[in-house]
Amino acid sequence: MSIDAYLNKTRKEYQQGELDERSVLACPFSQFRAWFDEAMTHADGEPNACALATVGADLRPTVRMLLLKAFDERGFVFFTNYSSRKAEQLAQNPHGALLFYWNALERQVRLEGSVEPVTIEESEAYFESRPLAARIAASVSRQSEPAPSRAVMEEAFATCSAMSQGMPVKRPAHWGGYRLVPARFEFWQGRENRLHDRIIYKQENGLWSIERLWP
Ligand SMILES: Cc1cc2nc3c(=O)[nH]c(=O)nc-3n(C[C@H](O)[C@H](O)[C@H](O)COP(=O)(O)O)c2cc1C
Repeated sequence: MSIDAYLNKTRKEYQQGELDERSVLACPFSQFRAWFDEAMTHADGEPNACALATVGADLRPTVRMLLLKAFDERGFVFFTNYSSRKAEQLAQNPHGALLFYWNALERQVRLEGSVEPVTIEESEAYFESRPLAARIAASVSRQSEPAPSRAVMEEAFATCSAMSQGMPVKRPAHWGGYRLVPARFEFWQGRENRLHDRIIYKQENGLWSIERLWP
């Protein structure tokens, strides 16, 4: 099939499930947990892979994939480089949006909220749980900066590896976590005839309101 034919003709019907404002859980974190649990069993790939959108002072949105590493009622945690482009944008505007897409379940979840660094203790604890190679890569990476060549990157990795001599590599100050504290959740379930279910939760005076949106 040609690309044009695929783009113009392929129409998938979504029939895997349904979502009702009368039966969703009252707490959006619990609803997320329930869906994440299903995604771990049924979704292909990495169910914790999500896209993070940020907007810096130039008001131009950017988006990239991340791996969610923890979540609870305080928010959704990911780890990255504090000198990266996303970090620069978060310093200018500490708000972001996370998007999860679970194709096999025909579901997406959208989260919007403020973003704050996690505590140093949380960053250290997670860094120490990473394999040595991932710690070395995080230490030498100048994420989002131009790299002269692949060879330069590999040399930096090899030098840091040799210097560590198998000793634990300490978390560099430029690496750590962020927590997105959601003020809005959307749970989207694909339905037949493009009449999808969209249930949103919004926080008002410490309470979560629930409503359905047109698809
Ligand atoms: C599936 C997947 C997971 C990723 N997980 C992370 C992650 O957890 N942390 C991270 O900093 N980058 C991760 N990346 C790389 C980012 O998408 C991105 O390239 C990098 O963070 C630099 O983004 P920035 O220049 O906008 O800051 C991941 C990429 C993919 C495709």
